[in-house]
Order: sequence, then C-alpha cells, then structure tokens
Amino acid sequence: MKRYKNASELYDIFYKERKEDIAFYNRILKEYKKTFSNNKVIEIGAGTGRVLLPIAARNPDLEFHAVDVIGDEIEVLKEKAAREGIKNIVTHVTDINDFQPKEKFSFAFAPFRVMQHCQSLDEMDRFVKSTKDLLTDDGRFVFDLFNPWVHMLVREGVVFEGNYHDDDGNKINRRVEVNERDYFKQTQNIEEYYSVEYTDGKKDNFEWLYTTSYFFKDTAALILEKNQLTVENLYGNFDRTPFGKGQYPGELIFDCVKQQKGR
Ligand SMILES: C[S@@+](CC[C@H](N)C(=O)[O-])C[C@H]1O[C@@H](n2cnc3c(N)ncnc32)[C@H](O)[C@@H]1O
Repeated sequence: MKRYKNASELYDIFYKERKEDIAFYNRILKEYKKTFSNNKVIEIGAGTGRVLLPIAARNPDLEFHAVDVIGDEIEVLKEKAAREGIKNIVTHVTDINDFQPKEKFSFAFAPFRVMQHCQSLDEMDRFVKSTKDLLTDDGRFVFDLFNPWVHMLVREGVVFEGNYHDDDGNKINRRVEVNERDYFKQTQNIEEYYSVEYTDGKKDNFEWLYTTSYFFKDTAALILEKNQLTVENLYGNFDRTPFGKGQYPGELIFDCVKQQKGR
C-alpha cells in the first residue's frame, strides 16, 4: 500500500490538468533550437519535472539540466525520469545563485512563477544576473510570472480548496490559505495544507509554507534590461497573445535574449 512521504510527492496530482505552459515552452524551444550554439538547456526551479520531462522526451538531441533548491522535488523528478526511460537530464540540488556549471547554456527557462520566490528586488536582480551569467552569447531566457491581479491581492483566508484522487484511488484535499501579506515589500505568505485519506482508512497530513512576491511588468522588465537581457517578446498568455491584448489578469511571459558584449 502506497504512502506519501512528503508534499513534493503530491505536486503532480494537483497540476495534472496544467498543460498549456508545457506546450508553450516546448514550442518556443523548438523554434529557437536552430540558433543554439550548443545543445545545453537549463530549467531553473524544475521541481518535480512536470514541464521538463515531457520536453526532454520530445527533444532527445538536447541535454537538459534541472536545478532546484528542494531535494525532495528533484528526487521525484529523478524517479519519474528513470521510470519513463528519459536519459538526457542531469539534476542539481542547489540555489541557482550558487550554481557553478562548467559549461554555458543556450537556453534557460523558469516555468510556473519560479522567480516569484525572490522576496525583494535585490533578490530578483541577483537571480537574473545568475541566470544571465549561465547563458552563452546570444543565449535565451524565457520565464513566466503571474500578472498581479489587484482583486486577488486583497483576499485573505482560504483562497483555494480542491479535492483530488491519485491513480490508486486515495483521496487528497488541498487547501491554500493566505493570512499574511506585506504590501510594502509586495510579499505574501502562502500556506498549503494537504490531507490524504488512503483507501485502507489511514490518513496523512502535509504542509508547504512559503513566501512569494509579486512583480509588475515594468519592474521585471527593468531588472532584465539592467542585466543585459533584451525582452524580445512579452506575452499575456501561453497561446502567445501579446501582453495587454488578452483577458485581465493573464500571465506575464518574458522571452529575452542575452545582449552580446559591445552591443
Ligand atoms: C512553483 S514551482 C515550479 C516547478 C516547475 N517549474 C513546474 O512548472 O512545475 C517553483 C520551484 O522553484 C524552485 N526555486 C525557487 N527559487 C529557486 C532558486 N533560487 N534556485 C533554485 N530553485 C528555486 C522551488 O524550490 C520550486 O520547486
């Protein structure tokens, strides 16, 4: 009888239906691939490999590096890759700011609001600089943030609750609460609570508590520009609707290229 060990093992169950970002990153990677100066790609904040695994499977000519600061997430990614026979992924448990690879990457991506884990402009600046330093000349960095939704930013208490089943029929409840925000720092403390009810009646509870920030479009654009990353496209949705043309709030999806020296 299966028993979950930690919150990371539940992550994929909650995001099973989230596929549009996978299709977006795969498409954009395929389009840019012919311009790459080597075959190395890095996902920053790869988590359980929700996005990375299907993309790595579809691009066997590329070598993917998965970086995440949470070891439990990378363990899930590795188990899935082994199970699915995906061999073109190298994993690293580290903060991106401490990552010192031997080679540069032609393409970096950070799907699902990874950069919102930065809790100040200084931290975001450092994250962007670290990423830029990992890129080859003309390397690209593509990432998404949520477009801060003014109405959502005032909600308190339970902001989401959902019920799920895993493949073995065990029931999982997920509750997300926001009880603390700092409107000066633009941060919010997220509390995620999961309760699992197994088919044999046993129960487990897990929690994941973290702080995230929200950044508006121009703030992120200025930090990128400061770090010699030119925003070539800014989308408001994973179907590549330009930012501002689709429905509010949408997403903030940056497609940037590293400026060559002397440009
Ligand atoms: C919302 S999850 C996204 C996971 C995955 N990209 C996906 O789309 O499912 C954000 C992940 O970013 C990781 N992360 C945040 N800041 C990081 C940093 N500075 N260095 C490495 N990983 C980081 C977190 O540990 C977490 O696993």
